[in-house]
Amino acid sequence: NSSSMWGGRFGAGPAEVMREINASIPVDKRLWRQDIAGSKAHARMLAAQGIMTAADVDAIIEGLDTIERDYEANGVPEHIELEDIHMQVESRLKDLIGEAAGRLHTARSRNDQVATDFRLWVRGACAEVDKSIAGLQSALVDRAAEHADSIMPGFTHLQVAQPVTLGHHLLAYFEMAKRDRSRFADCARRLNQSPLGSAALAGTSFPIDRNATARALDFDAPTANSMDGVSDRDFAVEFLGCAAQTAIHLSRLAEEIVLWASQPFGFIKLPDAWSTGSSIMPQKRNPDAAELIRGHAGRIIGAFTSLMVTMKGLPLTYSKDMQDDKAPLFEAFDLLDLCLAAMTGMIGSVAFDTERMRAVAATGFSTATDLADWLVRAHGIPFREAHHITGSAVKLCEARGAGLELLTPADLAEIDSRLNGAALPDLSVEGSVASRTSTGGTAPVRVREAIEVARRELAG
Ligand code: ARG
Repeated sequence: NSSSMWGGRFGAGPAEVMREINASIPVDKRLWRQDIAGSKAHARMLAAQGIMTAADVDAIIEGLDTIERDYEANGVPEHIELEDIHMQVESRLKDLIGEAAGRLHTARSRNDQVATDFRLWVRGACAEVDKSIAGLQSALVDRAAEHADSIMPGFTHLQVAQPVTLGHHLLAYFEMAKRDRSRFADCARRLNQSPLGSAALAGTSFPIDRNATARALDFDAPTANSMDGVSDRDFAVEFLGCAAQTAIHLSRLAEEIVLWASQPFGFIKLPDAWSTGSSIMPQKRNPDAAELIRGHAGRIIGAFTSLMVTMKGLPLTYSKDMQDDKAPLFEAFDLLDLCLAAMTGMIGSVAFDTERMRAVAATGFSTATDLADWLVRAHGIPFREAHHITGSAVKLCEARGAGLELLTPADLAEIDSRLNGAALPDLSVEGSVASRTSTGGTAPVRVREAIEVARRELAG
């Protein structure tokens, strides 16, 4: 089997199924740009160090340029017998420039090559995800600005708790997205060291310049330990962790969209473009995209789990198990990108039924806390006692089948004699949200400030 890249010591070629299980080209062909960039940097460094002639490096660069144009125009072929993208490119290079192609792999192994390519790919993915999350943030801020004053129920235990503004609710997701972006930025910063030059695992006897290749590929520095350089995949695990957390946030928002679009809530209506029908029930409008975002979060978390389980038992350094690092990461990236685009589209176009939201916000004695706070503020009653008095007021209103806003001064005096002659506070939902002016609170003034801050942050 002299045709294979490693066939020198073999008498026979691999079994059909051996070829099949060994091949990663259907998955790792996505690394082609990174692989070619890495090879160019490596070849130039070899020439600069006097390890390769100027004529050879020129031929190699020219050949790689040709391959790049070819892949760009026609896609990457999948020759299963060439195993992976690295051998695919090298084999094509040999077809193009002949013997000099064989010098490219001097002082290099597929082990440091794949680690380098993959880091470069994940670094680019972090930048792309960042852009997509920023897009969702803009959509959230725009809708929040429209609804800085719109009142909706705030929930705990999915029970109506206190009135809040819709703008405030949407900006909660802006904050989550902001942390998600900072996690990806951190991941990109931490992974930005070049494994190239680690060679198979032990480094190399050739006088290579790892700083030069690191610089050429925009890495901050070479990795410090060659064994770590080829066996580390924690950058990929970390990326998947960031993706999983982002997906969890998207999934919670998706769950709210599903709930809010349902008839018992009736808070939102998704436009036709973001709804699907039923093949049997003609009246149906289903929030499928939101359900799929919730569902895809499960697959992204699965990808995260998958790579952690792949890595956890591997001794140093490289084991072929590690070839399975790419499929989950690519899948998670693709799903996350799609989910972010779908969520951005839905948030940008959903219609909020603010009247319905306001009506529900007023149910469930949602301003009871405001009454208790007023007892403390206006009458110096300790909060625990105020809580008790308010409880009695709620009980009274509940028995009457009326809201707290129908409470009379006489009712109050009846409940507690200290309140004889006291005028009633504003227990409307509007009064309630307007009063919540503490830092980070739901009052429209605070929400408008938060929107200003958010817009400034997005403008960078
Ligand atoms: N296709 C391999 C991977 O993705 C490349 C590294 C192969 N190294 C080796 N020693 N077989 O992990």
